[in-house]
Amino acid sequence: MTAFVIRDAVPGDAAALVELAQKIGAEPEGWLIADDAWRGVADERRYLKALRRHPHAGVFVAEEEGEIVGRLSVARDPHPASYHVADLGLMVAAGHRRRGVGRALLARAVAWARESRVRKLELHVFPHNAPAIALYEGFGFVKEGYRRAHYRRGAGYVDAILMAYWIDEP
Ligand SMILES: CC(C)(COP(=O)(O)OP(=O)(O)OC[C@H]1O[C@@H](n2cnc3c(N)ncnc32)[C@H](O)[C@@H]1OP(=O)(O)O)[C@@H](O)C(=O)NCCC(=O)NCCS
Repeated sequence: MTAFVIRDAVPGDAAALVELAQKIGAEPEGWLIADDAWRGVADERRYLKALRRHPHAGVFVAEEEGEIVGRLSVARDPHPASYHVADLGLMVAAGHRRRGVGRALLARAVAWARESRVRKLELHVFPHNAPAIALYEGFGFVKEGYRRAHYRRGAGYVDAILMAYWIDEP
């Protein structure tokens, strides 16, 4: 196996990013919040283009031998009272897990937060997602809350754990 690199996503990554999300969204464990409703390639491209003019969000990818094997998205809360907080989402391709890609993408998000003067990163994770919870806790995220029936899934709703990481604790 070769090494991966972490870089900013560019509009030309849109098709590969949609494919990555669709594949991971189709895994039977149901890891992702948007597992069957990921945006299309044109919308993804538009979003990545808009990021160039929008310093309040970022998309970072892990690339290995020309293939995108991981993605982290982060976006700042627009409300003035929680402007110091940004929410993130993360995914790593099934064949590339347990090699430090997730940890490296989180480190990139922390660097982005520092550059952007974001003080707190937050995320939602499903209670059954033991791999992700282990990654986040090992990185330094803490559980801040348990949100009952917070997301719609199929005909019902699922719970989520709210986790947070302080860049710069008050
Ligand atoms: C969760 C996920 C992002 C982890 O990415 P990854 O690249 O495999 O994580 P890393 O290799 O950086 O793992 C770092 C540490 O996290 C923990 N960890 C990761 N996966 C684990 C697993 N399956 N079981 C136990 N611990 C795990 C370990 O402590 C690991 O360190 P180690 O390999 O040195 O023991 C990846 O499994 C994934 O994309 N899953 C599907 C989508 C998803 O769940 N996204 C998150 C939604 S909230």
